[in-house]
Amino acid sequence: MKGTALITGASSGIGESLARVFASNDFQLIITARDTSKLVALKNSLDDPDQTQIVTADLSTREGIDHLIANTKKERVDILVNNAGIMQWGNLQDREADTIDQLIDLNIRALTYLTHHFLKGMIKRSSGKILNVASIAGFQPIPAMGLYAASKAYVLSLTESLSEQIANSGVSVTALCPGITNTPSTEQLINEIPPFIVSSADEVALAGFEALMAGETLCIPGVANKTAVAWAKLQPRSVVRKIGGFVAKFAPDQ
Ligand SMILES: NC(=O)c1ccc[n+]([C@@H]2O[C@H](COP(=O)([O-])OP(=O)(O)OC[C@H]3O[C@@H](n4cnc5c(N)ncnc54)[C@H](OP(=O)(O)O)[C@@H]3O)[C@@H](O)[C@H]2O)c1
Repeated sequence: MKGTALITGASSGIGESLARVFASNDFQLIITARDTSKLVALKNSLDDPDQTQIVTADLSTREGIDHLIANTKKERVDILVNNAGIMQWGNLQDREADTIDQLIDLNIRALTYLTHHFLKGMIKRSSGKILNVASIAGFQPIPAMGLYAASKAYVLSLTESLSEQIANSGVSVTALCPGITNTPSTEQLINEIPPFIVSSADEVALAGFEALMAGETLCIPGVANKTAVAWAKLQPRSVVRKIGGFVAKFAPDQ
């Protein structure tokens, strides 16, 4: 075995694909999410289920984060994959306050606390890797999903800062920035999107795994996504904001 990878949000979508990629590359797994039955199904579908530990936890709560950390004490976590995240559409002023908490607590707080906790041990050992799942939405404001895009800008910024901060420590941190990916979280809008810009969860997971192993700081899977991000960097912010506005066209009914 090459080590242990802890993967959050492993019960579906990109996280499930990441779990399969790590398992097929000879890593032991700790997989976590809220839905135990899906985690059990994933574990049992792997070639060697005994190499996978399940921890059920709601990472939008401090108790859930503490529970996960407490249940990983026996294993040395060599790789942390902060994948769990939720997407929300709609106007900020129309949201219930507790749904705002849910997004911030999962997309930002859980990722930050888990990184803080596991990074310490990795730095001491001078080895380890962290994969933070951001999004191409982190590169630009998106009025139809402003809170989500802002949370991914946070993930991107934190990851890039850490990457510089820990350079030469033997530890690396990578931001995986997928574009639209065919997963349960996008199933309501996927048919509205031109297929050439939609990636599969497996493609995204493999690109993230390879970038992580290579110690790259940024990974944007897919030519269309890379081109979109590169093009947007050259435009005035006012144009970038307007382009972000077009995404509203694809917003599912609230
Ligand atoms: N799909 C896209 O187009 C796309 C594009 C860019 C970035 N991303 C990012 O990729 C990541 C994975 O997204 P996905 O599309 O694969 O979504 P998904 O299929 O909906 O998976 C989300 C995962 O997060 C877990 N999760 C949700 N709430 C949780 C909570 N409170 N506590 C613990 N786990 C929780 C879910 O499991 P349970 O429900 O069992 O808890 C599930 O395993 C997210 O960070 C997302 O922002 C997605």
